[in-house]
Amino acid sequence: MLGCAQLVCNPDGQGILYPGLWLSFAFVEPRVRGAGLGMRLASTVIEAARAQSAPRLHLLVDRDNGRARALYEKLGFASVDFAPLRETLERLEATLGVERLVMAKDLRPPAPQTPAALR
Ligand SMILES: CC(C)(COP(=O)(O)OP(=O)(O)OC[C@H]1O[C@@H](n2cnc3c(N)ncnc32)[C@H](O)[C@@H]1OP(=O)(O)O)[C@@H](O)C(=O)NCCC(=O)NCCS
Repeated sequence: MLGCAQLVCNPDGQGILYPGLWLSFAFVEPRVRGAGLGMRLASTVIEAARAQSAPRLHLLVDRDNGRARALYEKLGFASVDFAPLRETLERLEATLGVERLVMAKDLRPPAPQTPAALR
């Protein structure tokens, strides 16, 4: 196996998992990094989330993981303030010095444009 990525689904927010849909455990074997596999894996997870009609897909990434953040930004993810995890992330930073970000991608299709002539 050269790489993996997982879609974790908790649409109703019950139990111990974070609420919503999450791209997690993205990993590519070091010797094949930079060849597009990470992009393909993440894109596959995005399509799987879309197939669930989810409005949004989230992920967690270390602030200093520039490589992963560049990949996610190319795929349309942006850093967000995710209230259900705010306290946990603040505690993690205060106790272990680990700064993690929540990024999210909107999966809804863009609203149809109204032609000027019909307005
Ligand atoms: C993050 C990771 C999955 C990316 O996998 P990858 O197969 O190397 O990624 P890709 O080859 O598809 O590259 C996609 C984008 O990542 C970025 N990237 C790739 N190699 C990079 C490098 N050496 N430096 C900076 N950015 C880089 C680029 O933006 C690239 O897009 P481009 O090729 O169009 O410039 C891989 O580096 C990895 O497994 N890292 C360790 C685990 C990890 O950090 N996972 C993320 C947890 S949130």
